[in-house]
Amino acid sequence: MNEYLRLGVNIDHVATIRNARGGIHPDPVRAAIAAAAAGADGITAHLREDRRHISDEDIARLMRDIDLPLNFEMAATDEMLDIALRHKPHAACIVPEKREERTTEGGLDAVTGFSRLEPVVRRLSDAGMRVSLFIEPEPVQLDAAKALGAPVVELHTGAYCEVPPDARPAELSRLQTAAAHAGAVGLECHAGHGLTFDTVGPVAAIPQLVELNIGHFLIGEAIFGGLESSIKRMRALMDQARRDTSGERSA
Ligand code: PXP
Repeated sequence: MNEYLRLGVNIDHVATIRNARGGIHPDPVRAAIAAAAAGADGITAHLREDRRHISDEDIARLMRDIDLPLNFEMAATDEMLDIALRHKPHAACIVPEKREERTTEGGLDAVTGFSRLEPVVRRLSDAGMRVSLFIEPEPVQLDAAKALGAPVVELHTGAYCEVPPDARPAELSRLQTAAAHAGAVGLECHAGHGLTFDTVGPVAAIPQLVELNIGHFLIGEAIFGGLESSIKRMRALMDQARRDTSGERSA
C-alpha cells in the first residue's frame, strides 16, 4: 500500500460565490494558492459547459499562477477537448455533464459511451495529460476504463456519502471492491465527491487509493474556520485513516 494519500482540492465553489455577485471576489486562484500553502497536493477545477463557476480565464490563470499540478475536469466534448489541448494541464478528468444537474450526479458510463470516449482519451493522452475517468464503483466500468486506455479512474463517492448511515457499509464495500479491482487490472485509483470530515476516514483507508479530490465541503467549512484550517483538518483525518489501516495490515 502507498501510505501517502494525495489530496486534490477542488476550488469550483470559490468561483460559485464570486459569480453570485459577478465580480472578482473571492478569487479561486487565490484559494488555490492558499490551498497549496495548507498542504494540498493538487488543484482540481471543473470548467462546465455553462461556465456556472470556473471560467476560461480562471483556467488560464491557474495554469500560469499555481505551482501544484492542475487536474482539469471536463466533459467529453469537442470544446473542452480543444481547451485541454491548448492548456495541457497535468491531468484531465473526464466527467459526465448535464446542464440541468446541480453537481456531477453520477459517474460516466464508460460502457455505453465507449466509442465517444475513446478518441478523447487518446488525444488527451497523446498530448501528455494523465487521463482519468470519473466512474461509478462498478467492475464493468473499471474494465471499460482499462479497455479505453485511461491510466486512472476516479471512483464516485456520492452514493456512499449521501445514503443514510445504516446503508453506508454496503456503499463502502462497493468502493472497496472496485478499488481492489482497479489495483488488479493495473489502474491508478482515485475517489471523490461529497466527502466530509465525517465520511472521509473509511474511504481514505482503502489501500489502493492514491488520491482524493474534495471541494464543496472544504470550501463550505472554510466559512467557519478558514480554508487553511479546513484543509489541514481533512489532511490530518486522511493521514490518520492511512496510519490506522497500515497498522492493521502489518499487525
Ligand atoms: N471529483 C470529481 C470528478 C468531481 O466532479 C467533483 C465535484 O466537482 C469532486 C471530485 C469534488 O466533489 P465535492 O465538491 O462534492 O467534494
